[in-house]
Amino acid sequence: MYKLTRIPDKIYYVGVNDRQKALFENLWPLPYGVSYNSYLIADDKTALVDTVDICYSDLFFKRISEILNGRPLDYLIVNHMEPDHAGSIRLLRELYPQVQIVGNAKTFGMLEGYHGVISGLHEAKEGDVLDLGHHKLTFYTAPMVHWPEVMFTYDTTEKVLFSADAFGTFGTLDGAVLDSDMDTSLYWSEMERYYSNIVGKYGSPVQRALQKLSGVEIKTICSTHGPVWREQIDRAVSVYDRFSRYEGEHGVVIAYGSMYGNTEQMAEAIASELGANGIRNIVMHNVSRSHASYVLRDIFKYKGVIIGSPTYSNSLFPEISSLLSKIEIREVKNRLFGCFGSFTWSGAAVRNLNAFCEKMKWEPVGMPVEEKQALKEEKYQACLALGKAMADRLNGIG
Ligand code: FEO
Repeated sequence: MYKLTRIPDKIYYVGVNDRQKALFENLWPLPYGVSYNSYLIADDKTALVDTVDICYSDLFFKRISEILNGRPLDYLIVNHMEPDHAGSIRLLRELYPQVQIVGNAKTFGMLEGYHGVISGLHEAKEGDVLDLGHHKLTFYTAPMVHWPEVMFTYDTTEKVLFSADAFGTFGTLDGAVLDSDMDTSLYWSEMERYYSNIVGKYGSPVQRALQKLSGVEIKTICSTHGPVWREQIDRAVSVYDRFSRYEGEHGVVIAYGSMYGNTEQMAEAIASELGANGIRNIVMHNVSRSHASYVLRDIFKYKGVIIGSPTYSNSLFPEISSLLSKIEIREVKNRLFGCFGSFTWSGAAVRNLNAFCEKMKWEPVGMPVEEKQALKEEKYQACLALGKAMADRLNGIG
């Protein structure tokens, strides 16, 4: 028998854990799984907030039915239409044909497109109130956090924010739902990865949403992924705030490709000089081993980015090229950039990396280094100089 957890009064967690999927969005690894959170408010009127991935609809409907115990489901509030949350809507409608689906005009367009649902709709405009009895719900649009139709639902009675993807994290809920009932240490790094991988492009919309919420008293945050935040709301908000500002902590990510170890030796030299000059946060990623998901997380996290690539078929090493594309898509801002590479007969990697820096409007730091074949003394010294220049820039020297 599964355990149902009451959040505040009459709000039940009815979400599910997914420990089967290997890749979220068929792109991003899930070493700790992911939860699809849904909440049932069993008041005078009953309202479900979001659904779950269709793969788990059977278990999900069983939970809902047990709590409703024969009562009707009056409303389904759709904060977000991405199929990890909206996947069960059509089946839910078949089970509860009278349910009114609450959303905005953009939600309804997607409801029709994905599920063919065009009736039984209740439009929620910004600031509208839905009275369930004890709980009075109001709505805030939050476009592009992470899709255009996203909205937040706020329970003004219990000060609970149902925040769609915002403040969400990868990682299943293993035996508890509330942050106060668990060790949350696993989730912070996964929250950074979730943000940078999934929401990362939309820094400005996230900032606008945070601004909108700034005057709202929030006692509990019910996101669609990961723990329900009550004791650690400030920390969860600060991750989203910091990452959406593209601030970057004091530290450097060195991401490199290397076929036979020559470019890697350059990375080692740069890292050693960063360390010798007081940089304590140095993260090295061999992009052939580190999934881009983790490299992106660290690029969002740290201010300094140094990228190395061998020249491959007169271009960049393919995995570096793929990484650059992922960074570009996310429009990561305000980074300090250095680059290096090696080649055998004709260099192209560093030229491409410089062009990337220019396109991103990042600040170039130090002299790029490009070596022909094995690393020799002159270019070894140039690598040290690049590491020193980055350390000095981060330390505010010079
Ligand atoms: Fe968890 Fe944007 O869906």
